[in-house]
Amino acid sequence: MLSTPEILRRTGGRPVKSIVFDEAAIAAKVQELGARITEAYPDGELLVLGLLKGSFIFLSDLVRVIQRPIQIDFLVASSYGDAKVSSGTVRLLYDPETQLEGKHILLVEDIIDTGKTLQRLMTLLGTRRPRSLAVCTLLDKQLATEVRPELRFVGFRAPPAFLVGYGLDHAENYRHLPFIADLE
Ligand code: IMP
Ligand code: MG
Repeated sequence: MLSTPEILRRTGGRPVKSIVFDEAAIAAKVQELGARITEAYPDGELLVLGLLKGSFIFLSDLVRVIQRPIQIDFLVASSYGDAKVSSGTVRLLYDPETQLEGKHILLVEDIIDTGKTLQRLMTLLGTRRPRSLAVCTLLDKQLATEVRPELRFVGFRAPPAFLVGYGLDHAENYRHLPFIADLE
């Protein structure tokens, strides 16, 4: 656990309102998700697809506790810009180069808000004939929208606050915080 001065050094003096999930809680949850994923895929090729940029820290911890062979690639989609409110528009900026056909695909996301980003990606990836397609998200805000993708592996239910840290950003800041905090 970081002390207050250690936190403020990392945020440039901006206080965090509260730490929602600390390092220990996150580490325990990642272990649990890794065990569940290992068990869920007894055979076949598994491609772990990280949605950049938010999932990069979660994905790097998660893949190290999955106890079976995997491949790793990334997707880049953009929906937020600097705004704190979801715009609903998604842009695909990088398409995975790895072959998807016949493989189990596990999409790894940092946080699901409206789920629009993910819904669009699921439809697109489904056309590439994977053996299966599932989602693992660290956080789920559980917003009720008409089209919500099915979330097979969920770490935590997130409060309806704007969260930063452990990969989550506000205008590219705070991704490096080792915990998840409410900034407001
Ligand atoms: P959705 O398409 O509305 O589900 O938006 C999901 C994406 O928005 C996530 O992958 C995050 O990058 C971003 N996002 C949603 N909520 C938060 C938050 O509380 N903090 C930081 N980023 C967020
Ligand atoms: Mg994201």
